[in-house]
Amino acid sequence: MCGIVGAISKDRNILPILITGLKNLEYRGYDSAGIAYLRNNKVTIKKITGKVSKLESKLNKNDNSHLGIAHTRWATHGKANAINAHPHRYKHITIVHNGIIENFKELKDMLEKENYIFKSSTDSEVAAALLNYYYEKYNDIEKTIKEFMNKAIGSYAIGMIVDNDKDNLYAIKKESPLIIGISNNTIMLSSDIRAILKYTNKYYILDDYEYAKINYNNAIIKNKTGKQINKELKEYKNEDTTNSKGKYKHFMLKEIMEQKETILKTALPFIEDGINSLLIMPDLTKYKEIAIVGCGTAYHAGLVAKYLFTELTNTRCNVYLASEYRYQNNFLSKDTLTIFISQSGETADTIAAIKLVKSKGCPTLGIINVEESSMTFLVDKCLYTKAGSEIAVASTKAYTAQVTILSLLVLSHAYRNKNISKEKVLEIIDEFKNIKTLITPLLNNKEIYLAIAKDIYKEEDIFYIGRGLDYALSMEGALKLKEISYIHSESYAAGELKHGTISLIRKNTPVLCSATNERLNAKTISNLKEVLARGAKVYLITDEKIKDDNITIINIKKTSDFIKSLLVIIPYQLIAYYTAALRGTDIDKPKNLAKSVTVE
Ligand code: F6R
Repeated sequence: MCGIVGAISKDRNILPILITGLKNLEYRGYDSAGIAYLRNNKVTIKKITGKVSKLESKLNKNDNSHLGIAHTRWATHGKANAINAHPHRYKHITIVHNGIIENFKELKDMLEKENYIFKSSTDSEVAAALLNYYYEKYNDIEKTIKEFMNKAIGSYAIGMIVDNDKDNLYAIKKESPLIIGISNNTIMLSSDIRAILKYTNKYYILDDYEYAKINYNNAIIKNKTGKQINKELKEYKNEDTTNSKGKYKHFMLKEIMEQKETILKTALPFIEDGINSLLIMPDLTKYKEIAIVGCGTAYHAGLVAKYLFTELTNTRCNVYLASEYRYQNNFLSKDTLTIFISQSGETADTIAAIKLVKSKGCPTLGIINVEESSMTFLVDKCLYTKAGSEIAVASTKAYTAQVTILSLLVLSHAYRNKNISKEKVLEIIDEFKNIKTLITPLLNNKEIYLAIAKDIYKEEDIFYIGRGLDYALSMEGALKLKEISYIHSESYAAGELKHGTISLIRKNTPVLCSATNERLNAKTISNLKEVLARGAKVYLITDEKIKDDNITIINIKKTSDFIKSLLVIIPYQLIAYYTAALRGTDIDKPKNLAKSVTVE
């Protein structure tokens, strides 16, 4: 994963550009960071374990530089420590690298035979050494880069400083995203244009096997054969994504609260003019089957859609984890539409799955939050979620935006398929229009979430159960809790507990549950009684009028199936948030995680 940034300028100090860029790239990893810059014509390197703010405090106030590269890391090869942190330097070459050099072991063996000695356990140091090897062999930077591309297998976005060429920066790209930002007398490279928006919104996107020689007033981009490429200069037009937490203690809480706007914003293009707008949704009637692919929370959004497709439109739908899907036999067919869900649009496994489906000539649809992210260029068609930038690592508003798009897609399909009357569709559209009123009381119900959090925050095992749609929601609820509170939490289909897991229920084990399906609620309640009988503490989210002194109940309004997941998930998100807050974890940047998972 990792984020890289680089800058070269005629007349400005590039250190603030690098630090601001890194801070904006921390969503790609934040276990260590480093910077290399020219000072008195020499490459100075500083590296730390921890976050970018720590690196910033290591810089001297008077330091000034016109050329540098920097990196924020999510460890893949080698522990998160200062030795393994980037930049990596080998003699004449200093690099920052995002991606994975898959054949690094073979390359390392080859270089060790040439008496190369390595200090770190990283594949990136091997990349620096390999570049140095070719540079010493050919004394020609472009040839060095081309040889590197021939030899290195895997993915890389690299920013490079060459000792004997202090007027240029170099960028090399394969599979990991890399852009070049252009401003007056200053040129930058970055994993993401949003990281350097403070300085420019004009940029080039490098494609695979392209490299660039960058000085302060131009970037010469070439392909693997050395042919210069004339790139379109793009302009990032979206709202500035430099964010503040506002009145909230954490981005996660702010983003949870924003859902009263983001759901409607996402839905609006498809509901504002009734059925006419709904029919903007792609026509799915020509497909025999729908496949949905995603990771983590995006996968969970897919599970909600599976329930809606199969129960309400009688259309076969299967949901797959991208990391499994890409390596299994998927019986791909042109009659199946494969939908890819992603907040970042950069998740490596999902990208690989898209490429797989496309390679067989089968149709693809993306449901993606970040415009102009890698996936948006790969899928045949894209529906954008309008969650805005999600900073907290744990996804909340992006999930509800995904569920919103998927629900409306299913609704349009149900209408075209004649599974539902026009009157009913209009009622559901009204429910979407009314979402703020439905959701606000749930968002404001802090006392009950805090009370539950106080009850459970010292526990080490928590179970989430449900049936049907509620089972899909329990998976997302359990994921939210575990990723930010570090409490072990698992979700189970409520009927499955007694086939093994119930042996883990002890006195006071918390069991969280939602029951919002008239047909299945009585059965779910029976399952709750079974765990209560074994001493569990039980918490229930439901739209039924249930009274039970042994169960803590959170009531939600009765709505159609298209809306209810957007309501049930709010208590789950806020219980996770307040539980983590009581445990004092780093809620926005939980340990071991990153916002964008760009390695498989
Ligand atoms: C969990 C979470 C992750 C992501 C997953 C996919 O809160 O955020 O599980 O959902 O890494 O990421 P995207 O949606 O960017 O493809």
